Amino acid sequence: MNKMIIYSSKYGTTEKYAKELGTKKKIPVYSNQEIPDTLLQTDEIIFIGAIYMGKISGFEKFAKKYYSLASKLTVISVGMYNPKRKSNYKDIEKSVKASLQKANFLLEDIFYLQGRLDLEQLRFKDKILVNALYKGSKKKSTSELNENEMDIIEAYESSSELDLSELDSILEKI
Ligand SMILES: Cc1cc2nc3c(=O)[nH]c(=O)nc-3n(C[C@H](O)[C@H](O)[C@H](O)COP(=O)(O)O)c2cc1C
Repeated sequence: MNKMIIYSSKYGTTEKYAKELGTKKKIPVYSNQEIPDTLLQTDEIIFIGAIYMGKISGFEKFAKKYYSLASKLTVISVGMYNPKRKSNYKDIEKSVKASLQKANFLLEDIFYLQGRLDLEQLRFKDKILVNALYKGSKKKSTSELNENEMDIIEAYESSSELDLSELDSILEKI
């Protein structure tokens, strides 16, 4: 069965996950900006995309463009909010299914990975938004913070590298 990984990434986190997955599983990897025609003959597509404003970037467009394909599809999201929290993954699942409503893909699975914020790289508008979210959260006392606000503070203040071992549980299933 031939497979292909398509990634959508603005600042590189998702691209790193996609390339690691591709190397480990020996699957070709392409950006969603450069999808080759061979996609049309691919049995199984793995779409891995970063979440921006609650949606997997580029996924809706991808699903619309290739709606007639009946290949198997696995979707992996990468976001700063804790992907293990039910409210977060339920929202993403809903948005993925909404995008696939008119598509023929056979959705196999959806996985969720922890992303990270690279503050130095952020472009102007994104920086303003992230700074506003962070400052708004920091003004609150710990007991007033909701879980996503805690995640924003954690992502903003963390300087740790991306943990590629997050992929381990997915590697077994792809
Ligand atoms: C402007 C902006 C909006 C974001 N919105 C969300 C969001 O709604 N949910 C989430 O989990 N992460 C959100 N993130 C975090 C990104 O998904 C995270 O930084 C991810 O690792 C970025 O991947 P990339 O480097 O491949 O673009 C946002 C980040 C930025 C800069």
